Amino acid sequence: ASARAVQAQQAAEQAAAALTAEVLEREVGRRRNFAIISHPDAGKTTMTEKLLLYGGAIHEAGEVKARRSSRSATSDWMELEKQRGISITSTALTFEYRGCQLNLLDTPGHQDFSEDTYRTLAAADNAVLLVDGAKGIEPQTRKLFAVARLRGLPVFTFVNKMDRPALNGFEIVEQLEKEFGLQVNWPIGSGDRFVGVYHRPTKKVVLYEKRGQAGRSKGATKTEYDLSDPDLPGLIETDLWEQLQEDAELLEVLGDELDMEGVMAGKVTPVFFGSAMNNFGVELFLQNFIEMAARPAPAQTRSGVVVSPTSPNFTGLVFKLQANMDPKHRDKVAFVRVVSGKFEKGMKVRVARSGRTVTLAAPQRMFANERQTVQEGFAGDVIGLTNPGAFAIGDTLVTGPTLAFPPIPTFSPELFAYLRCPPNQKKPFLKGVEGLLGEGAVQVLYSTDEYITDPVLAAVGQLQFEVVQYRMKDEYGVDTTLEPMSYNVARWVTGGWGVLEGLGRLFNTTVMKDVYGRPVLLFRNDFALQQVLGEHGDKLGQLSPYALP
Ligand code: G4P
Repeated sequence: ASARAVQAQQAAEQAAAALTAEVLEREVGRRRNFAIISHPDAGKTTMTEKLLLYGGAIHEAGEVKARRSSRSATSDWMELEKQRGISITSTALTFEYRGCQLNLLDTPGHQDFSEDTYRTLAAADNAVLLVDGAKGIEPQTRKLFAVARLRGLPVFTFVNKMDRPALNGFEIVEQLEKEFGLQVNWPIGSGDRFVGVYHRPTKKVVLYEKRGQAGRSKGATKTEYDLSDPDLPGLIETDLWEQLQEDAELLEVLGDELDMEGVMAGKVTPVFFGSAMNNFGVELFLQNFIEMAARPAPAQTRSGVVVSPTSPNFTGLVFKLQANMDPKHRDKVAFVRVVSGKFEKGMKVRVARSGRTVTLAAPQRMFANERQTVQEGFAGDVIGLTNPGAFAIGDTLVTGPTLAFPPIPTFSPELFAYLRCPPNQKKPFLKGVEGLLGEGAVQVLYSTDEYITDPVLAAVGQLQFEVVQYRMKDEYGVDTTLEPMSYNVARWVTGGWGVLEGLGRLFNTTVMKDVYGRPVLLFRNDFALQQVLGEHGDKLGQLSPYALP
């Protein structure tokens, strides 16, 4: 009888495992995780609103408020959230569309936040490149591009603002082709005369019906026609119809079938045209995106082990820390991307770096503009954990065997400034520096002179300084001043302090230490760096442009 009981037990366990495997397969298979990268003003906020609208996550697009007046001000970043109802600092938004769960990771548009963007892209499976149809590929887009490319992300391009006089479609495609391969759909007209798009793979023409302001948030009605449909010429103005036939012919010559392998490798980008504001082409884009986008993929650990997203053991990567998301609660949130297994509220995980066991008691995610408690999560999901102290950027969380995902690279800082505070505000000042530092909002260096205790902020862009000052005031009540230093290049001495001893005086260079006490050399410019390298290169050993974790 006991043998039978054991057998029954085994059968039950097997059935449970099979069920878990099935759930994992199904849930991972319907995840689409992506980040929108764009030049500021290309329409990312508007596009996000429209995507949420289609996902049923919001019911009416919020008014996209003009922010011209406060364009350069830092407060704009926070004000923006209030104005739009979508949290800019929300990091990840979740919505459902046609059975898929889409996780949209937020990347700050401003170039000065590129470090943050970099980290976010480390958690993304796909990138959506938003281009302003009138401006084409802008410098910032190019830079973000490079980051996406470095990560080997599939890139899907949406050329926005086609309701305005735009560059010729071929011009934009030519720009894109310098970086990528071909396009899959094609605008018909632009500006007032933007009437629809031609979808190449299916040879279908999608026409948009114009609606008044009021209809804009509801989704434009579209009508699909075969390019060969005899009704079609009657529906489009003659010159646009002639142009379309010509373009369609040209497009045939220009490229072949959509090369999905190329898309997955980030070598070819499908291009869509539309207008986020008027809801033209957004749904067509979304439909194609969920078909084509990369699913959560297996990840490699530092030691080269491959972790499958459907592996039963939970693993996650901490890619971003943010303090004071809710100023009323002064909380700190660690954002984790689920890499494998099933995440469950209240589960215990180990932090691979410290070996500490942490209970994930209050996991959260953003659903449109609401914070929700997460009950479960699967590969591709992003979960916010309020557990200050336990987590650092780049941490791997595990339930099974200890393993670690590769560190997230950082950008080398190029701007340096002493951050000073009034003498009577030292305490909140130090607290603020610690908070913003822990979050990775800015890097901090210290003088090697023990009497100089003010921190040196090391940033990639000027706006990072402004954000730190704004938040010091807003969140910690400290009025800080900045004293810029005339250095522009930083190099970490990987050999440690020993290497610097006996080198004598280094000209045009200052030695600082990072928060871990490691030596960092600051140079006025590249020329000064080359000079020092020429003179002491052999003794200095390897210099790194950024701090390794
Ligand atoms: P961002 O987050 O990438 O910075 O862009 P955002 O959505 O804020 O859009 C920037 C501007 O472009 C906004 O105008 C927005 O209304 C406009 N825009 C977005 N999509 C489209 C589109 O498809 N067509 C046209 N014509 N404009 C678009 P704004 O002047 O800053 O604000 P507002 O005047 O609309 O309030």
